[in-house]
Amino acid sequence: MWETVTTGLSGAVVTRRAGVYRKTSDDQGHDLVAEGERLRWLRARGIPAAEVLTCRPGLLETAEVPGRPASEHWPMADRPRIVDALADFTRRLHALPVAECPFDRRLAVTIPEALAADVALDMLDAERAGWDRDQLVARLVATRPALEDLVVCHGDLCLPNVLLDPVTCEVTGVVDVGRLGVADRWADLALTTRSLVGDGDRFLDRYGIPLDPAKLEFYRLLDEFF
Ligand SMILES: Nc1ncnc2c1ncn2[C@@H]1O[C@H](COP(=O)(O)OP(=O)(O)OP(=O)(O)O)[C@@H](O)[C@H]1O
Ligand SMILES: [Mg+2]
Repeated sequence: MWETVTTGLSGAVVTRRAGVYRKTSDDQGHDLVAEGERLRWLRARGIPAAEVLTCRPGLLETAEVPGRPASEHWPMADRPRIVDALADFTRRLHALPVAECPFDRRLAVTIPEALAADVALDMLDAERAGWDRDQLVARLVATRPALEDLVVCHGDLCLPNVLLDPVTCEVTGVVDVGRLGVADRWADLALTTRSLVGDGDRFLDRYGIPLDPAKLEFYRLLDEFF
């Protein structure tokens, strides 16, 4: 029996059984072959990521990553260690050589994708609640950063997509890497800090970067389109 994990908002369904996670999608926009390729690419570079067992159009099966998602309830005493482990992991990912990454998520790629995408206007972040599509697009175009500080980004680096060992609090692996590619580091930092809520400052300190409010806002806005 496959047990349902999520019926994803973006069209993918995730189920699990005896150490295997299965992701299926009939949505053309949800490319599970691209996701499998990115998982393999990460693991080949020593970054902990789910091992691909089966990968073909519409189906991705991965071996269960041990540990618990960072989004689950953790004892208060563990939170600083979790935040630090997430920051250290993010630095390690962002230290991969950009020139060796075949996946491109620069703004030259993602802005045209955003402009062609449907937006779930009922799911916007609180700062943009009630905006219509034209307002989102106008703000996106007006606030596009001139320069991109390029690294290898996970692309959806929020807490449910990172698993940690409950004893050591070390990152055991990441999942959901369909949008991994070369992009500004704030593409990840904006989403991780949003996901961490009150622990965002500690995360940025440990990562070692001052807050960039303009990029933070821009990359959260860009994420509304995906
Ligand atoms: N190999 C795995 N090992 C452990 N947990 C996994 C694995 N694959 C998926 N999961 C769990 O299932 C959840 C959902 O999987 P995933 O993030 O790939 O789907 P999703 O967020 O619904 O997808 P998308 O954002 O692409 O629509 C993850 O947050 C994670 O907790
Ligand atoms: Mg996910």
